[in-house]
Amino acid sequence: MAFFEIENLTKSFGAVQVLKGVSVSLEEGQVLAIIGSSGGGKTTLMRCINFLETPDGGTITVDGEQVFPAEKSNKERGKSRLTFGMVFQAFHLFPQYTALKNVTLAMDVQSENELRERGVKFFARKALMKEKRAQNEETAKALLTRVGLEEKMQNYPYQLSGGQQQRVAIARALALSPKILCFDEPTSALDPELTGEVLKVIKDLRNEGRTMIIVTHEMEFARNVADKVIFIADGEIAEEGTPEEVFGNPQNEKTKHFLAKEEV
Ligand SMILES: Nc1ncnc2c1ncn2[C@@H]1O[C@H](COP(=O)(O)OP(=O)(O)O)[C@@H](O)[C@H]1O
Ligand SMILES: [Mg+2]
Repeated sequence: MAFFEIENLTKSFGAVQVLKGVSVSLEEGQVLAIIGSSGGGKTTLMRCINFLETPDGGTITVDGEQVFPAEKSNKERGKSRLTFGMVFQAFHLFPQYTALKNVTLAMDVQSENELRERGVKFFARKALMKEKRAQNEETAKALLTRVGLEEKMQNYPYQLSGGQQQRVAIARALALSPKILCFDEPTSALDPELTGEVLKVIKDLRNEGRTMIIVTHEMEFARNVADKVIFIADGEIAEEGTPEEVFGNPQNEKTKHFLAKEEV
């Protein structure tokens, strides 16, 4: 069984079936790129994978464990590591917190939950959290440095460019050590001159062997970083293969049409 597998995932909104049975798999350390026209169901698929929507049917399995429908409660799993991390098109940073705090906040919540699940009582937890917070801050600083924001840690989102904000969002997602990092059009809200810095960070993560799923309209980027590409149209995978296969020799008419428009 592959590291990541979804099997026959379906999702409707009212009478409209948006995902019509999507199945795909990915090995650890690989990158899956999802391409397709607007309205095809890419975001819905990502939201289903990240538990932001509940699928109507199908299964999601990661690292040998079925996470949807969940076989174990979070407590039984020992939630030391998040399954999925998500980076959104619109960054979704907390405007009232600095870049650093945006990254540490989620880690602190995770640390506190872990202690609670281990049954550590209130006062002991408060004492331990002091230590944890300091550790989390060090980790956050290292992550922000890694995405090139060493100088911007104390800045608020409004003091950062879109590209910088998105890099904070990536650091924040990494901070929770997800098994799979997901991106939904991470550069489509950015001015063209800022997309490069974000794509470079994602490329570096790939070279470090991170397992990632990326919805993107940057075809050149998809071609360069992906191990596998799926083209989604009308809630179904119309084409699947290596970048060479999908971009170089598309079989499906819809894919051909889409790529012709994208001028790949
Ligand atoms: N929460 C929702 N309620 C109703 N319809 C939705 C909802 N989210 C998405 N849709 C519909 O599902 C279809 C696929 O949307 P989406 O997954 O956002 O596609 P993509 O990301 O490929 O552009 C669209 O027709 C959209 O209008
Ligand atoms: Mg979308």
